[in-house]
Amino acid sequence: MKIILARNAGYCFGVKEAMQKTFNAVDLHKDKQIYTYGPLIHNPQVVQKLESMGVQSIDDIQDGKNSIVIIRSHGIPLEVYEKAKANHVEIIDATCPFVRKVQRIVHEYHQKGYSIVIIGDPNHPEVIGINGWCENKAHILNHVSQVESLPFMDKLCIVAQTTITSELWNAIVEELEHKAAVVEPFNTICIATRERQSSCASVAQQVDAMIVIGGYHSSNTQKLLQISEKYCKYTYHVETAEDLPMDILKKMNKIGVTAGASTPDWIIKEVIEKMSSMDQNNNEMMNMMEEIEN
Ligand code: F3S
Repeated sequence: MKIILARNAGYCFGVKEAMQKTFNAVDLHKDKQIYTYGPLIHNPQVVQKLESMGVQSIDDIQDGKNSIVIIRSHGIPLEVYEKAKANHVEIIDATCPFVRKVQRIVHEYHQKGYSIVIIGDPNHPEVIGINGWCENKAHILNHVSQVESLPFMDKLCIVAQTTITSELWNAIVEELEHKAAVVEPFNTICIATRERQSSCASVAQQVDAMIVIGGYHSSNTQKLLQISEKYCKYTYHVETAEDLPMDILKKMNKIGVTAGASTPDWIIKEVIEKMSSMDQNNNEMMNMMEEIEN
């Protein structure tokens, strides 16, 4: 059996930073309670680990009074910063720089009088946070069919949730070109997302089965799943090695592996080790050789 690990898989830059800032806070502020504003990342195993270190998640910033609250990589609305300040909540900001850039664009163009469209999931914390930088007035679309219901606008600024697919971006932007006199599209899909999606597509085309590792509620993992399913019929989403469909995998010669941006290395390693143990005498793991599109 051959196992091919996608070149770009697992923790992205923004998630690594958020994890590091949290570990540093636990080390440096032993006398204080450390909270995260919402679960730090969409990975239940990592959240459990943090809880075992005393790091709790809160949903209301005011619950962080006299404590330290870590803002996760998804970012927060402007009003939550203001609330934190008013309530003397100490903040450690781990908003990913790529998300910060989207917030700045939206804030600037909203102030210039543009209507705003965010292409993404309206219930995702990143999108809720971005919308909070234009007084929650953005139109949020996650399907091309929703464009029709929008009014004609004078000036329109379009941004993307950092983890959507280029396919969705292109389809919706093409339709939005007819919806305003002036259209300013900013493709804010982040580089880590592009690399992971491109690596996933490349591996999925070469294998009999594909394993996508990541939290069941992780948005970027869901996108990898969609991409993989396009090229590989036998695509399976697992959170840990426990979830592997071993009976099916035993019959496969080539298995591809990728992982969402919030999947830690130790879970990827456990998944690969469990599959490798099926075929101890004849397994080979290789890094993907494909070229990454930048
Ligand atoms: Fe940042 Fe992209 Fe990761 S926006 S948190 S580098 S998926």
